[in-house]
Amino acid sequence: MANFPIDQTRAFGKLILFGEHLVVYKAPAIVGAISAYTDCKLEYLDEPGLEVVDNRPAVPHYKEEKKDEGDVAIGLTLSHLGVDPSIRGVRLIFGGDLCCASGIGASAAQVVSLARAISVSNGTRSLTEDEINAAGYEGEKGYHGTPSGIDNTAATFGGLLRFRRTDGPPVFEKVKFPSAIRIVYASTGITASTTKVVGDVRSRKEADEAWFANIMDRYTSLVGEAEKVLEAGDMNRLGELMDANHGLLQELTVSCKELDDLVVAARAAGAVGAKMSGTGRGGLMMALTPTEEVQNSVAAALEKLAPQVWKTTFA
Ligand code: MEV
Repeated sequence: MANFPIDQTRAFGKLILFGEHLVVYKAPAIVGAISAYTDCKLEYLDEPGLEVVDNRPAVPHYKEEKKDEGDVAIGLTLSHLGVDPSIRGVRLIFGGDLCCASGIGASAAQVVSLARAISVSNGTRSLTEDEINAAGYEGEKGYHGTPSGIDNTAATFGGLLRFRRTDGPPVFEKVKFPSAIRIVYASTGITASTTKVVGDVRSRKEADEAWFANIMDRYTSLVGEAEKVLEAGDMNRLGELMDANHGLLQELTVSCKELDDLVVAARAAGAVGAKMSGTGRGGLMMALTPTEEVQNSVAAALEKLAPQVWKTTFA
């Protein structure tokens, strides 16, 4: 049995600062892993079969609504790594402090933590970080249909990353912002299906390629500037660019009233920028707050409107 402590199976949640949805079409994106994580304990059973114990904290209804996709994702990850519970039974116990909510990368954290648990299940670490990430990508297909790979990459490697999907392996590198980036993020409480929302964007794109290309062009110049601004450490301009990215996501039809209301409230409470983050049509929004004082006042304002509000810092 595994000698490895459970913390060796941790996989992080994430917030996308720039580029959700467009990253599926190979636009560059910027993602920050948060410190909250999912972990996974794998136990081999005497009888064949698969038992899943899901102890992860979650917003109401998330686990029920994601159960079927989660079962597919777990199956894909197991089979990618050659684990067949019909031959040797397996119990998986998921836990950790990441509160599962649409947009936070909970699905990626789950399958990456499972890949980590398999990696250490025979007492030695058998998979490289790239292999863990690749297994997470296979698992994500259960939740995302056609994942870009951004969520599993953040879940595996952590940190603040510049990410780009390619025809081959994704290209990504760590970004170092000169100062801490303080964030408040809030859930609408609405669980969305990434497969459905990504599929709907694809249908709209196919119906009107010129409309999509126009959004993509404006995004490409926006994210090019965001990369420079991140290096320079200009928090106010970073916030303006996040606002602009939110506008493009509204045009893409993936925002919704609940997200827009939270974005407006965060800006009114002092955030220098705010946007939806992740899948949208529910899920999460995030606000950029330059100081601890502003972070606290934005969190207090959002707590009046949103069922769950969290603070995090990308260092
Ligand atoms: C979901 O966190 C991000 C999306 O861009 C989907 C993906 O990149 O796979 C909506």
